[in-house]
Amino acid sequence: MRHPEVVTDNLNSLQSHILAEEAKYPRAAGDFSWIISAIGLAGKAIANRVRRARLTGALGSVGAENVQGETQQSLDVIANETLMQCLGSRANIAVMASEEDEEPTILRTGSQGGKYCVLFDPLDGSSNLDVNGPVGTIFSVLRNRPDEPDAERTICQPGSQQVAAGYILYGPSTALVMTTGHGTDLFELDPYLGSFILVKRGLRIPERHKVYSINEAYAETFPAWCRAYLAHAHASGYSSRYIGALVADVHRILMSGGVFLYPPTAKHASGKLRLLYEANPIAMIVEQAGGRCFSGDIRTMDVQPQKLHERVPLLVGSSGEVDDILGFMGR
Ligand code: AHG
Ligand code: MN
Ligand code: MN
Repeated sequence: MRHPEVVTDNLNSLQSHILAEEAKYPRAAGDFSWIISAIGLAGKAIANRVRRARLTGALGSVGAENVQGETQQSLDVIANETLMQCLGSRANIAVMASEEDEEPTILRTGSQGGKYCVLFDPLDGSSNLDVNGPVGTIFSVLRNRPDEPDAERTICQPGSQQVAAGYILYGPSTALVMTTGHGTDLFELDPYLGSFILVKRGLRIPERHKVYSINEAYAETFPAWCRAYLAHAHASGYSSRYIGALVADVHRILMSGGVFLYPPTAKHASGKLRLLYEANPIAMIVEQAGGRCFSGDIRTMDVQPQKLHERVPLLVGSSGEVDDILGFMGR
């Protein structure tokens, strides 16, 4: 039997899908499709570099740390440069900001046509590279604020104001998942066509699935509510999966449900994941698929960002599972 969500009639590329979506809004000038096509191009280029990294000697660190104090892998730098190159030529981008760069990059002001800002984590889960594990790229698109001269303040917008968000997962296949606020869609790269092909529209995360995802090695420094939840999960027949790349752990949840947690720990008192280019885009994708996403007891997309590289705790996944955990938090 065919799955009712699987697109079986027409062949739609990412490009044609975005053009068709834009055509629904007569005042849209096509700016947005230029951005998505740049991200798609970058995703194809990064996928190619990731797949051949061992053969081309591109694994390992560059001997430097990024602004987060984390060791930069060669591919972190390559993926960042690839995104900058692909997005840099798009006439409608005002500001770009990356996990790998301390400051945002200003391309043009509003009066020069800069309508959007693009924020990204060029390579998420990059410590998986050495072991041939999955990695990803996460992106968030915001409207520019032409009256705000400060680039960091321009991009410090709550996630609820995102125009679009998505990720590319470099796994056994290359998958692109994105939303423009009208559901979450899944595309897969057909390497023979060189195109991302629409395979599922309107993904829905199952309301419940007894699988949790957390780095349990830090359990002794988790907050009490989190340890209480884990004890409950252990006693209630839950299973555990943790890939160590947010994109891959969230993709599993989008496909089959469950919950991912990165609570405050001794090492990361505010959580480890970055609000603007990890938590917010993931929150929009997951909420658009019927899931929930919280940072502490606040909906992640309602958090007012204060700075570019700010970190937040994360609780994301199936609505029923997230609600259970909010109960343990006393919410
Ligand atoms: P990045 O590689 O972009 O720095 O992100 C790594 C993040 C995220 O992908 C993952 O969920 C988390 O770090 C894993 O952290 P731990 O190793 O502390 O579990
Ligand atoms: Mn990351
Ligand atoms: Mn990264």
